[in-house]
This record gives sequence, C-alpha cells and structure tokens, in this order.
Amino acid sequence: MKRLFYVLLACLALFAACDSSSDSSSRSSTPSVIFGVMSDTHIGASALASSTPEARLQKAYQKFASIHSSMDAIITVGDFTEGGTLAQFNAYKAIMDEHSKAKNNLLLLGNHDNMNVNGQSAIDRFVDVFGCQPTKETVINGYHFITVSTGDSVYNTTSYHLHKTWLEERLAAANAKNPHKPIFVFIHHTMAGTDLIGSHQAEAVGAGDLYDVFKQYPQVVTFSGHSHVSFSDPRNIWQGDYTALNCGSVYYTALDTTHHLTAGGIDNAADAGEAFAPFNRGESSTALIVEVKGTKVTVRRIDNYWNIEIPTKFVFDTSKPKSKFPYLESKRIEASAPPQFAAGSAITLDKIMDNGIEYTFPQAMTNNSRIPDEGAFAYEVSIKEQPSGAAADTARLQALYFMFPRPTSVSYDTKKLQPDTSYEISVTPVGYFGKKGSALTLSFKTAEEGAGDTRDVHPIPIAALLAGVGVPALPPGTTMDAFVTMITGYPLFMVNGLFGETIFFKDNALDEPFEGTDVIDITTIIYSIISLQELMSYL
Ligand SMILES: [Fe+2]
Repeated sequence: MKRLFYVLLACLALFAACDSSSDSSSRSSTPSVIFGVMSDTHIGASALASSTPEARLQKAYQKFASIHSSMDAIITVGDFTEGGTLAQFNAYKAIMDEHSKAKNNLLLLGNHDNMNVNGQSAIDRFVDVFGCQPTKETVINGYHFITVSTGDSVYNTTSYHLHKTWLEERLAAANAKNPHKPIFVFIHHTMAGTDLIGSHQAEAVGAGDLYDVFKQYPQVVTFSGHSHVSFSDPRNIWQGDYTALNCGSVYYTALDTTHHLTAGGIDNAADAGEAFAPFNRGESSTALIVEVKGTKVTVRRIDNYWNIEIPTKFVFDTSKPKSKFPYLESKRIEASAPPQFAAGSAITLDKIMDNGIEYTFPQAMTNNSRIPDEGAFAYEVSIKEQPSGAAADTARLQALYFMFPRPTSVSYDTKKLQPDTSYEISVTPVGYFGKKGSALTLSFKTAEEGAGDTRDVHPIPIAALLAGVGVPALPPGTTMDAFVTMITGYPLFMVNGLFGETIFFKDNALDEPFEGTDVIDITTIIYSIISLQELMSYL
C-alpha cells in the first residue's frame, strides 16, 4: 500500500526593507513595474496536505524569484500569521529575509494579525519587527502602492474607516499626478458588492466600507485576500467603478460562499466543521504576478501547490472609461458559455443500496478543459422518485476547479432513498457566471429492504468513458502501461501519461486479483473510472 501511495504521489529580506521605496520615473523598459501579490499565509498554523505554512511561504518567494530575479515588490495582503503572536511575526520576517529577492517587501495587517494584540499594539509590534508602518504609501517606478491595514480582529473588520481621510488624500494626490495610471491599493478584505465572496467582505454597513472612496477613481486596482477562494475561480476579478481582485490564499483554498454547496466529502465539508473549505483544502497555494506597462495591467495567476500557471491572463487598461472595462459582470455573463458534458458521458452507479446509491459522473468541460474559466463551477444533482416525480434528494457539488489537472470525475452519494423503489437521477453542470448545460440522467431501482450494500456493476464502454474525459476513442488493440494493484478488494489500474495525465480505472471484469506492472489491451476490458479523491479515500 505504501508503494502505491508513493507512486500515486509521484503522479499526481528586510535587506529590501518595506520602507526602501524608490521613486525612479518609469522608463521605456517593459514592463514598467512588476510585482507579486499573495495573501493569507497564516504562519504558525498546522500543516495541510503535508505542507506547513512556512514551507508554502518559502516556496512562494522562491517562485516569484524564479519568474523574475528581482521583482519591484512583493506584497502580502494580510493574515500573514495565524494568531498574530510576536513569534509568528518574527517567523514570517525570517523567511522573507532569506527567500525574497524583491526590491520592496510590503505587508499589511489582517484580522488574524490582530488576534494576539490589536489596534495600536499590533501596529507597534509590526513596526518593531518589520521596520515600517503597515498602512503606508510607497511609490515604485512612479506607481503608487498603498497598503491599508485592519485595526481589529473582527472577522469582517469594521476598522477601515480609521484610514478613510488619509486614503482619500493619497488617492487624490496620485490622481492629480496622472488620472489614468493605475493606483494599487492592498487591503485584506474586498469591499461588499465587488468580487464573489459576499459574506467574506468588509462590513458593508457603517463606516467600515471604503467603497465610496475607491469608486471616485476608476484607475484604482485593489488586491485583497481573506476569502481564501482559489484564484482559479475567474470571479476573483471584478470591475465596476474600479477594479478589485482577490488573491486566494497561500495556506489553503475555500469555496464560493455565495453559492452554498452541499456538505460532503468532495465539497465544502461543513459537516466536519470546515465550512466552505473542501476536505483537501491544502491542495492549493495561490499567488498573483502583476506586470504593468503604462496604464495596461496584466495579471498572471499561479498555484504553487500544483506548480502551474493558469493559461489565461487578466488584462485591462486603467485609462479606459469604466464602461469599456473587460471584466464587467454583465459583459462576462453575456459572453459565458454553459458547460456541457462530452458526448457519450454517463452517470455510473458504484453502489446500489436499499437506502441509497453511490454515483460518479465525468466532469463537464467547455472547449478545452483544463482552463478553469471555461469549465463547470458546480453540479446540481436532483433525485426524483418515479413515476411520481417527487423530489427525494438534491445536492450541489463542487467541480474541484482548484485542482490541476482538474479531476476527470466527481463522485457522491445519497442515503435518503426508499427500498425497492424506482428513481431518476439528473446532474446539471453550472458555469461560473450562472449558465447551465444539459443534464445527464439515469434511471435506477434501489435494492430490496435488508439487502445491505450491493456493489453494482454498470460498466460503460471504454469509448464513452474516454470521450467523457475529453480524449478520442482508441483503435482496437491499443495497449498502455498500467500499474495494477488491489485496493480494498478492487482491482485497479493506474494509467500513466497516455493522455498527459493519470487516470484510474476500477476493473469490473477481472476475476483474478493480482499486483504488478503489466501491459493491457484497454479495448478488451470494460472499466469504470475512479477519481483521485475516491482512490485516496481507500488509502
Ligand atoms: Fe482574514
């Protein structure tokens, strides 16, 4: 088992002190300014997915340095510690000193950084450790970088009003110099009504909200964190009166709370006390790279857990009028396409019990696939008794869009059904901007009462299976290398590299269990697909 697990894994400085700002004017070099942004590093918290927050932070700085040997700045947008202790502040600084190669390192306080001491005491602690103020303006290559800290540990802080007058003055001064050039503002929370995480935004009522300040200047570009939602969700960029982006988290990913997902092993695990955080939340560590030339801003998205960069970049020009912004929500809804299941896709039943089923379906993709912006964001599942059509159960399942490559299938279960009863299950893919594709449906009958768990065999043709994961059917006689093993009694093939990814097949035909490496003729045996999540659950 250990060997298999190993094989599976194989597959799958204050020297640039934060007050060392420069004000050299922009030259014709490209880009005019380049910087990295990350958030919610939570130094001092527990390891997730075998990776500590400290290791993740080190990797983030190293990744920035590998992309650009000396970025103009790296900004950490709050919650840089888990509990705000002096030891955690010092631990962050030690990693930054050793691994950051940026000319400027900027940080600001989030709610977690105010948990040990808050208000002026937290500011004093920050100044003692980092040698600069956590709320400040820094001018780099002629661009204004403004950090705005929270002053309390309230989850959706209400303390931003303390900086309102100062912020208004700074934005007015930058605007007076050049009304088109982007002004970069770094603040732990996004403002209510901007990006997708409504319940994780700054307090919308009262004086806590700075939206009224930002909206006066369409060239403002804010970078925030707090929500932890992976930047692989394209709704983490919002444009309206200005531009707001959310970086996700270096520590772990969470899910869109405005589209509440059903609890369970593959979605938000709210039943495990981790609301909005998927069970494998540690399998994500996001950051942004921002390249600016004149008034044109290009945002690159990277995930250091998966060592990938999302192929699509966000590009916008702050000299354009607001109505011409490319990421206006209305424009994106209009331009979006509904995700669709590939031809031949089918729901498979992994178990039929007297009180429910376990089911699996392939992911719906649009165009190609691995670009998160174009796939499904969630699936709506409905199970209805037949022929009455009475609703028996529903679920809303996440599409695991923060994983790269995205798992090719999703599995879930229900135990809310009656024995010996006919049902129809339907699965509808939902796109990021609300459009829904065509549903897959399957009729089935539950086992007789007392039958217990009945492992059902509903093999589907390999051609349909392959079509479901976006690869063409293979000619008869095609072989592939496979690692074959037994997991909880199921013969299983792990197929490496054939399609540029790893696919797992449960064998529904072999009678003889065996273990080893073999070459198999995949067209001669019927398989059902198994996701990585399901596989890992057996280990
Ligand atoms: Fe936070």
